[in-house]
Amino acid sequence: MTTSMHTQGMSTQSVTARRFQRMRPMAPNGTTPPVRTRDLPPGPRLPALLQSVGLLRFRHQFIPALRRRYGDVFTIRILPEDRHIVMFHRPEHVREIFMGDPGVFHAGKGNAILGPVMGEHSLLLVDASEHKRARKLLMPAFNRPALRGYEGLVSSLARAEVDSWPEGEAFASLERMNSLTLEVILQVVFGVTDDARLAELRPLVRRTVEIPPLVFLGWGYPKLQKLGPWRRTVDNQVELDRVIFAEIAQRRQASDLAERTDVLSRLLQVTDDETGAGLTDEELRDQLVTLLLAGHETTASALSWTMHELGKDPAQAARAREAAVTGDTDYLEAVLKESMRLHPVIPMVVRHLMAPVTIGGIELPAGVNVAASIILAHESEQNHPEPGRFRPDRFLEGEVEINTWIPFGGGVRRCIGAGFSLMEGVAVLREVLTTCEVTVSDAGAESTRVRNITSVPKRGARVVVRRRRT
Ligand code: HEM
Repeated sequence: MTTSMHTQGMSTQSVTARRFQRMRPMAPNGTTPPVRTRDLPPGPRLPALLQSVGLLRFRHQFIPALRRRYGDVFTIRILPEDRHIVMFHRPEHVREIFMGDPGVFHAGKGNAILGPVMGEHSLLLVDASEHKRARKLLMPAFNRPALRGYEGLVSSLARAEVDSWPEGEAFASLERMNSLTLEVILQVVFGVTDDARLAELRPLVRRTVEIPPLVFLGWGYPKLQKLGPWRRTVDNQVELDRVIFAEIAQRRQASDLAERTDVLSRLLQVTDDETGAGLTDEELRDQLVTLLLAGHETTASALSWTMHELGKDPAQAARAREAAVTGDTDYLEAVLKESMRLHPVIPMVVRHLMAPVTIGGIELPAGVNVAASIILAHESEQNHPEPGRFRPDRFLEGEVEINTWIPFGGGVRRCIGAGFSLMEGVAVLREVLTTCEVTVSDAGAESTRVRNITSVPKRGARVVVRRRRT
């Protein structure tokens, strides 16, 4: 049996408001005693606010600078409420974090700031047995046969997008890729193809994915929810929830549900092995918004960085085109992976310790957060020779060791959409490279900026394309 919140007589507005009240970012330490800075590896003494700004806005300079100053393991303190993060990046340390007991290494608490938008059932927010159950229910929608089922629609959405690009005129590939990956989430993940519903959803999801970092931080202070940008976020969420619940209700009744291949339709058919229950409306909503937020801008950023790298390097572009024409998926995948290595989209993955542990011989108390720094792992000379060079072949030559390339995190929390995003990336690159020649504009000048949670090309990875006539 599934519960419909409408049958419980509750309006969408109250469901959403309840979530914002319930899902305040949690106090970092829960029931554990307060963490003392002096018990942790060294780190900057700057106020937590400044360190938070460093991490949120200038992470690609701040984190490497701290490594140079304090060595391979250091501690930062961030808001809300002075949370400590001990930063690691060496593969043997990363392994200990990824392989840690999920009952002790909680990931959900580190993501608590996303609670008001993603909801309490979100795969990103739950831990231990609850996470295990949710992950098991979601997994079949992301296995290989399921991914193969999505590829056709992804390719046709990519074709339509590439056909709309202006010829011979510079444009920001990030914006175009954002629009494409959003469409992929709406049509392939949510399974919405009706034009009216798509038109209704697009601005709502766009506003959801564009919530600024200050608004995220502000959720630690519930009084702010009545003011300007925070108020607008809540209003947008109420409206988004209304449309999503309507879509779920309609889909439950669809006569072709069993034949449908989108993610939502698959999730509507899963049942818990033990209880036989399916996912409730609220659980489905939370997972859909999670997939939207986790899967949209991340993949768009990775793709636009790939456009930038290929546009800058005619020899690499020619090789990638050859791979696209001959169907060499491995090479296209290596291009994407190298791009994600050079330009990590997510800076780190965090676990909150529920009990004392030792990592790399360092004793850490319960209540502290530990992170595997993706930025540091990817730019380490020990992990990747000539780390600044774009060289996809390193992924084909068996050179990349385990726990040195970690854009998708690892262990039981490894990104559930990793295969999806690589499938999507390869399909998009294939469309781009077989139909267009790509060069960078602005002499290839680009740097990184943080937008929302992801790191994106600052100037939008501007490119010029020319259609191939052959
Ligand atoms: C280039 C694209 C992407 C990157 C770089 C990325 C990165 C990540 C990272 C770093 C994590 C945290 C892993 C950890 O804690 O160990 C994660 C988790 C997650 N990602 Fe992705 N992701 C991408 C695409 C996607 C896509 C396309 C989807 C879904 C359609 C998705 C859904 C999720 C979900 C649901 C989780 C939570 C997994 C869990 O806690 O069990 N991601 N992702």
